[in-house]
Amino acid sequence: MEKIIVEGGNKLRGEVNISLAKNSVLPIMVASILSSNDITINDAPDLEDVIVLTNLLSEMNCAVNKNINGDLIINTSNIKLVDMNSELIRKMRASFLIMGPMLSRFGECKISMPGGCNIGTRPIDLHLKGFRLLGAEIEIGHGFVEAKAKKLIGNRIYLDFPSVGATENILMASVFAEGTTIIENAAEEPEIWDLANFLNSMGAKIYGAGTGKITIEGVKADSLKGTTYRAIYDRVEAGTFMVAAAITNSKIIINGANEEHLRPTIEKLKECGVKFSGAGENRILVDGTGQKNPVDIKTMPYPGFPTDMQAQMMTLLSVIKGSSIVTETVFENRFMHVAELVRMGANIKIDGRTAIIEGVDSLTGCEVKATDLRAGAAMILAGLVAKGITEISDIYHIDRGYVDIEEKFRKLGANIYRSNN
Ligand code: EPZ
Repeated sequence: MEKIIVEGGNKLRGEVNISLAKNSVLPIMVASILSSNDITINDAPDLEDVIVLTNLLSEMNCAVNKNINGDLIINTSNIKLVDMNSELIRKMRASFLIMGPMLSRFGECKISMPGGCNIGTRPIDLHLKGFRLLGAEIEIGHGFVEAKAKKLIGNRIYLDFPSVGATENILMASVFAEGTTIIENAAEEPEIWDLANFLNSMGAKIYGAGTGKITIEGVKADSLKGTTYRAIYDRVEAGTFMVAAAITNSKIIINGANEEHLRPTIEKLKECGVKFSGAGENRILVDGTGQKNPVDIKTMPYPGFPTDMQAQMMTLLSVIKGSSIVTETVFENRFMHVAELVRMGANIKIDGRTAIIEGVDSLTGCEVKATDLRAGAAMILAGLVAKGITEISDIYHIDRGYVDIEEKFRKLGANIYRSNN
């Protein structure tokens, strides 16, 4: 079984190149279903989730190829309506985003219910609420969701929670809907803006993406052109390396960091005592060498502190003297990394959705598991500073969202490698 092995104690130095955003590229790949022309996605990150979605689109008779520059070329002109392979759907929730564009293009879609995962049940009620308000009939049974709509009519859709996936699915379902669709209390994550920007580059008419109110003027079906598009940088990968600089008391340059997208993470790290300075276009110098202070964190939808950075920050707080409180408001079960950190000597107590962290002098290396994508990254961060060797298993979670993570850390001077036994 593959593991990542880290020996703690090294400082980091130099520069790391951040990949393009997984949570942009996945919905953008799915949105290519809305056009019958060639779509080129520049520099698509070579991630497990991108491979799973590539396989799924190929199973639907789409052409998905990677050219020598690492660009994904997608053509969905021969796409077929198939019963979505429940294995692949369950493997990756983001595949449920296929429903919106399939409804738009074919007026129907049958797809297996996406599974939950370690961090929560991951319901889809808001996705289905949006589809119904656009005129679709929804049937759920035998582990499948079936949506049918003779015609999609624009409507006003209020989201009880600013769900990223529901916003994206409804956005894609309304591109060809007749008239105007307004999504209120929409998710404001930068990846939503990126998806809308991609669709507008094909000829869609989407306004206000990145704010809580998005307006979509329906355009004629099969009117979308082909496009070549480069997604935004991965703000969670960049944030993970910022925490790495802080936890190892190092100074590094992050190449591929959009300061605005990283504002919530940067502000919280500044409170901890980390210093930042611009080092050019999308380049940030992170100085984690100073005195660190305990801080309180409450995860919120963007522009609040990102839930995808919670495990990484908790790891940092576990070695900062003093008491910190972390409250996870977005997912109901995103503290699976706590038990692994406690195995390494952290002093963390959970009370419902709140974790109380008492900073310890040091962590000790041992065998730990990656319990989800970001928790796995947090285990690497813990290993960087733990005394001795940390062996991380179940690293398939990490490969879903980070390209060559151990390579990137090794280049920064960490003592880290991947073992196959
Ligand atoms: C996206 O997941 C991201 N995944 C997640 O990143 C991220 O953690 C999450 O947004 C929040 O930012 C991708 O973009 C592929 P949500 P998504 O719908 O869309 C509730 C990572 O590590 N909800 O905003 O599934 C839900 O239960 C991954 O890269 C409903 O109640 O997130 C959850 O509590 C992990 N009903 C909350 O909203 C619904 O219909 C946030 O879910 C949908 C969601």
